[in-house]
Amino acid sequence: MTRQHQIYKCEICGNIVEVLHSGAGQLVCCGQAMKLIEEKDKDEGKEKHLPVMEILPADDCKVSDGVKIKIGEIPHPMEENHHIEWVEIKTNDNKTGKKFLNPGDVPEINFHTRAKILEIRVYCNIHGLWKLLIA
Ligand SMILES: [Fe+2]
Repeated sequence: MTRQHQIYKCEICGNIVEVLHSGAGQLVCCGQAMKLIEEKDKDEGKEKHLPVMEILPADDCKVSDGVKIKIGEIPHPMEENHHIEWVEIKTNDNKTGKKFLNPGDVPEINFHTRAKILEIRVYCNIHGLWKLLIA
Protein backbone atom coordinates (compact mmCIF):
# COMPACT_ATOMS: atom_id res chain seq x y z
CA MET A 1 0.00 0.00 0.00
CA THR A 2 1.38 3.37 -0.96
CA ARG A 3 0.35 6.86 0.10
CA GLN A 4 0.32 10.02 -1.99
CA HIS A 5 3.65 11.94 -1.88
CA GLN A 6 5.69 9.03 -0.52
CA ILE A 7 9.15 8.77 -2.10
CA TYR A 8 10.60 5.36 -3.01
CA LYS A 9 14.11 4.48 -4.18
CA CYS A 10 15.49 1.44 -5.99
CA GLU A 11 18.59 0.30 -4.12
CA ILE A 12 19.98 -1.33 -7.27
CA CYS A 13 19.68 1.28 -10.04
CA GLY A 14 18.96 4.43 -8.01
CA ASN A 15 15.58 5.22 -9.57
CA ILE A 16 13.53 7.49 -7.31
CA VAL A 17 9.76 7.86 -7.69
CA GLU A 18 7.04 9.85 -5.96
CA VAL A 19 3.55 8.43 -5.51
CA LEU A 20 0.98 10.69 -7.16
CA HIS A 21 -2.00 8.47 -6.38
CA SER A 22 -2.20 5.84 -3.62
CA GLY A 23 -2.56 2.19 -4.54
CA ALA A 24 -2.68 -1.24 -2.96
CA GLY A 25 0.31 -2.64 -4.82
CA GLN A 26 4.00 -2.68 -4.01
CA LEU A 27 6.42 -0.64 -6.11
CA VAL A 28 9.08 -2.84 -7.75
CA CYS A 29 12.21 -1.91 -9.71
CA CYS A 30 15.10 -4.10 -10.93
CA GLY A 31 13.15 -7.14 -9.71
CA GLN A 32 12.85 -6.13 -6.06
CA ALA A 33 10.67 -3.95 -3.83
CA MET A 34 11.58 -0.27 -3.84
CA LYS A 35 12.57 1.19 -0.47
CA LEU A 36 10.40 3.86 1.16
CA ILE A 37 12.51 6.93 1.98
CA GLU A 38 11.52 8.04 5.47
CA GLU A 39 11.12 11.76 6.12
CA LYS A 40 13.45 13.07 8.84
CA ASP A 41 12.54 16.08 10.92
CA LYS A 42 15.72 16.67 12.96
CA ASP A 43 19.18 17.61 11.79
CA GLU A 44 21.96 15.22 12.72
CA GLY A 45 25.71 15.57 12.29
CA LYS A 46 27.51 18.67 11.11
CA GLU A 47 25.61 19.10 7.84
CA LYS A 48 22.30 20.90 8.04
CA HIS A 49 19.35 19.81 5.94
CA LEU A 50 16.34 21.36 7.64
CA PRO A 51 15.10 24.27 5.53
CA VAL A 52 14.93 27.83 6.81
CA MET A 53 12.11 29.96 5.36
CA GLU A 54 12.12 33.75 4.95
CA ILE A 55 9.13 35.76 3.76
CA LEU A 56 9.98 37.79 0.64
CA PRO A 57 9.27 41.53 0.75
CA ALA A 58 5.78 42.73 -0.09
CA ASP A 59 5.11 43.99 -3.61
CA ASP A 60 3.07 47.06 -4.61
CA CYS A 61 -0.12 45.39 -3.37
CA LYS A 62 1.42 45.12 0.09
CA VAL A 63 1.15 41.35 -0.03
CA SER A 64 4.22 39.16 0.22
CA ASP A 65 5.35 37.72 -3.09
CA GLY A 66 6.39 34.40 -1.57
CA VAL A 67 9.26 32.88 0.33
CA LYS A 68 12.96 32.20 0.10
CA ILE A 69 13.92 28.74 1.35
CA LYS A 70 17.49 28.13 2.42
CA ILE A 71 18.98 24.69 3.07
CA GLY A 72 19.91 24.75 5.90
CA GLU A 73 20.81 26.87 8.89
CA ILE A 74 24.44 26.46 7.69
CA PRO A 75 24.41 26.23 3.86
CA HIS A 76 24.34 22.61 2.71
CA PRO A 77 27.19 21.50 0.36
CA MET A 78 26.33 21.72 -3.35
CA GLU A 79 29.12 19.52 -4.69
CA GLU A 80 28.85 17.07 -7.57
CA ASN A 81 28.80 14.05 -5.24
CA HIS A 82 26.79 15.63 -2.41
CA HIS A 83 24.06 18.20 -2.97
CA ILE A 84 20.41 19.07 -2.50
CA GLU A 85 18.49 17.72 -5.51
CA TRP A 86 15.11 19.35 -4.93
CA VAL A 87 12.96 21.43 -2.63
CA GLU A 88 9.18 21.07 -2.42
CA ILE A 89 6.42 23.09 -0.79
CA LYS A 90 2.83 22.17 0.03
CA THR A 91 0.30 24.93 0.55
CA ASN A 92 -3.04 25.31 2.30
CA ASP A 93 -4.82 25.45 -1.06
CA ASN A 94 -3.72 21.84 -1.75
CA LYS A 95 -0.98 22.74 -4.22
CA THR A 96 2.52 21.33 -4.40
CA GLY A 97 5.52 23.06 -5.94
CA LYS A 98 8.90 21.45 -6.54
CA LYS A 99 12.11 23.05 -7.81
CA PHE A 100 15.34 21.27 -8.66
CA LEU A 101 18.86 22.42 -7.81
CA ASN A 102 22.19 21.50 -9.42
CA PRO A 103 25.71 21.08 -8.05
CA GLY A 104 27.31 24.49 -7.85
CA ASP A 105 24.01 26.29 -7.14
CA VAL A 106 23.48 28.25 -3.95
CA PRO A 107 21.38 26.01 -1.66
CA GLU A 108 18.38 28.33 -1.63
CA ILE A 109 15.36 28.88 -3.82
CA ASN A 110 12.36 31.21 -4.07
CA PHE A 111 8.74 30.14 -4.41
CA HIS A 112 6.26 32.74 -5.51
CA THR A 113 2.93 32.04 -3.84
CA ARG A 114 0.47 33.95 -1.74
CA ALA A 115 -0.93 30.77 -0.21
CA LYS A 116 0.15 29.65 3.26
CA ILE A 117 2.96 27.10 3.14
CA LEU A 118 2.19 24.13 5.36
CA GLU A 119 5.31 22.03 4.81
CA ILE A 120 8.66 21.98 3.06
CA ARG A 121 10.53 18.86 1.95
CA VAL A 122 14.18 18.74 0.91
CA TYR A 123 16.01 15.85 -0.75
CA CYS A 124 19.79 15.38 -0.34
CA ASN A 125 21.37 12.84 -2.72
CA ILE A 126 23.42 11.36 0.15
CA HIS A 127 21.40 11.85 3.32
CA GLY A 128 17.82 11.52 2.09
CA LEU A 129 14.59 13.32 2.78
CA TRP A 130 13.79 16.04 5.31
CA LYS A 131 10.41 17.55 6.14
CA LEU A 132 9.66 20.75 8.02
CA LEU A 133 6.07 21.39 9.12
CA ILE A 134 5.18 25.08 9.32
CA ALA A 135 3.01 25.99 12.30
FE1 LIG B 1 23.49 16.06 2.83
